[in-house]
Amino acid sequence: MSDGSYFQRDRGWHPPAYAPGYKTSVKRSPQAALISLNTTISEMTGPVFGHNMLGELDNDLVHNYAKPGESAIGQRIIVYGRVLDENGRGVPGALVEFWQANAGGRYRHKKETYLAPLDPNFGGCGRAITDEHGGYRFRTIQPGAYPWPNGVNDWRPAHIHFSVFGHAFAQRLITQMYFEGDPMIWQCPIVKTIPSREAIESLIAPLDMNNTIPMDARAYKFDIVLRGRRSTMFENRKEGN
Ligand SMILES: [Fe+2]
Repeated sequence: MSDGSYFQRDRGWHPPAYAPGYKTSVKRSPQAALISLNTTISEMTGPVFGHNMLGELDNDLVHNYAKPGESAIGQRIIVYGRVLDENGRGVPGALVEFWQANAGGRYRHKKETYLAPLDPNFGGCGRAITDEHGGYRFRTIQPGAYPWPNGVNDWRPAHIHFSVFGHAFAQRLITQMYFEGDPMIWQCPIVKTIPSREAIESLIAPLDMNNTIPMDARAYKFDIVLRGRRSTMFENRKEGN
């Protein structure tokens, strides 16, 4: 990531592009052999972001959309972890962005149609930059599960979407974090497109009682491994990324 080198998608680890159980993948998947494109200078070099871009509440979803003195409704949690390279070293300076549904399972998005109510004090997105050890941390509320029009009765397990940026736009990886013990994980048609149980387990954050804040929030730990044998399963690792 930091040296600008690119890795090919591992087809034995990533879900197939065409997975009929995940309905939209049928139309979205390529019908012809892929074409490799050369990466341009602008894709490899910038634009870049700076630490001073981040606002004080960017890593606090409980408050970053709330009116003064108010906070989002739901179970308060800390999500923390490290962005790691293939050798287990922390990756400093990576922009980590996250977005999620509210406690009732509803997104603040104009195309959202689920009947669960919006929380006036919850926006649902935030960001952090990893520290010198690759660490990131944010506070949020536990998202709810939500139904989606795929099969007759399909539900997404509670999850948080993650994006990790390196030092250029072409170095972006996207994944989802799930919560330990959630039975809905194993029912999910999107999760089921992932061929390896080990890959699925890399997306499940364990509850970490040692990092809870007593009388405030529980903690979940989610390390993001960029590549190598223990790589996190990314949704978008295309050729050249
Ligand atoms: Fe989602």
